[in-house]
Amino acid sequence: MKDIDWTHLTFSYTPTDYIVRSHYANGVWSKPYATSDPTIPLHAAATALQYAQQAFEGLKTYRTVDGKVSIFRPEMNAQRMQQSAEAMYMAPVPTDLFIEACELAVRMNIDYLPPYETGATLYIRPILFGTTPKVGVSPAQEFEFCVVVTPIGPYFPAGFGTTPFIINRHVDRAAPLGTGQWKVGGNYASSFRATEPAHEQGMGVLFLDSEEHKYLDECGGANIFLVKQNTYVTPLSQSILPSIINDSLMTLCGDLGISVERRKIAVTELSEFQEAASCGTGAAISPISRIIDPDNGTIYEYGEQAGPVCERLYRAIRDIQYGRVPDTHHWCHYIHPC
Ligand SMILES: Cc1ncc(COP(=O)(O)O)c(C=O)c1O
Repeated sequence: MKDIDWTHLTFSYTPTDYIVRSHYANGVWSKPYATSDPTIPLHAAATALQYAQQAFEGLKTYRTVDGKVSIFRPEMNAQRMQQSAEAMYMAPVPTDLFIEACELAVRMNIDYLPPYETGATLYIRPILFGTTPKVGVSPAQEFEFCVVVTPIGPYFPAGFGTTPFIINRHVDRAAPLGTGQWKVGGNYASSFRATEPAHEQGMGVLFLDSEEHKYLDECGGANIFLVKQNTYVTPLSQSILPSIINDSLMTLCGDLGISVERRKIAVTELSEFQEAASCGTGAAISPISRIIDPDNGTIYEYGEQAGPVCERLYRAIRDIQYGRVPDTHHWCHYIHPC
């Protein structure tokens, strides 16, 4: 294992020893291979650079309580990347290839997988992009699939904390018939102008539906859920990314006797909830202390500490990810380190 101060890692890139690559040409994906060169030579006219013909994924590898190595639901990320690829006119990466490449990247960099006790993990970032040079606006015929891994710190080094969020009606993350439901780079570059100023003030951004600006969509890099009595409510929208953690939490609600509603949530309903949180691979659950509506000065308060439903769900999903309870839903993909 590398000599790294695991407990002080943040969500930033730490170099590792290998990346994994596979190239698509003439209708065939090459066998994935590991290389110690983290750079990729790319033609300046490649469609990835010209037209943002690109998609990516994010998932985590855990060292479990009994020393196993487990990736959380990688087949879900594979399927989501296939949907993103189809939407961007790219060759989809088959599920077997996606998982083989992730496994290889983890195995080749196993010394960067943090110890169980630290709460840190090895983040996996698969990337797919068009490499064919084009100056006419059209898609590539050749693609590169690449997997980068990097150790990242626990999201909550000092306990399960809360974050304030601010509504933004002046920047739309995604149009109703746009690309919001896919994990493509352009969605993120175009939202920096909303997320960066908010982050500088220690806040997250809550995006609304771009048609009417009346209903909740999602956060910059996570879905949102709210809790009313014993009901977990999360937005139904065609412009949000289908979060794998949100899907998992809804299943866990069933196990824990919590009702689930997936429906439109109006901003005007925000005062009726007792808890709010963003959810995604990074933090699993990140409780929201308050949502600020800067256009009318309203502040919706959810408390400076995580509420009881957030606490229960957080414990439930973390216990599965770290192998502390039986994996009854078969979400842990165990890999052999060597
Ligand atoms: C825009 C957006 N929404 C939601 C999520 C959460 O998805 P997941 O739970 O699969 O990490 C992410 C992170 O991948 C995201 O970037």
